[in-house]
Amino acid sequence: MKKIALIFALSFTTTTWAAEIPDADSPAAKLFANKCSVCHAMPYPERLDWPHWRHMLGVMKQRMDERGIAEPSNAEWRQIAAYLKKNAR
Ligand code: HEC
Repeated sequence: MKKIALIFALSFTTTTWAAEIPDADSPAAKLFANKCSVCHAMPYPERLDWPHWRHMLGVMKQRMDERGIAEPSNAEWRQIAAYLKKNAR
């Protein structure tokens, strides 16, 4: 029984870590989490390096336009980009 409880505890901690993004309480992280989890799960910033993020932001802008989903403002895009640049792989 103890073993099962331990496995549960371990898997719980791992999922919590995986869901945690850097500086999760900062305005930029919240903006990113907000705008980038509308159509799919929130991507983890360490998933890509900055050149790939920059490319993906352009693609995502296009996807938002195609689907009529309100785009972040220019200031918000800059904030999201700066956040990803800082926390990229
Ligand atoms: C309008 C819906 C929509 C929004 C909002 C959106 N995405 Fe996406 N995203 C997609 C679609 C659709 C794909 C699948 C690939 C494609 O069509 O280009 C995707 C794929 C991705 C991928 C690749 C996933 C992989 O498995 O490699 C990343 C990374 C990503 N999005 C990041 C972002 C970020 C960062 C934001 C916020 C700025 C964002 N997305 C907001 C629609 C969206």
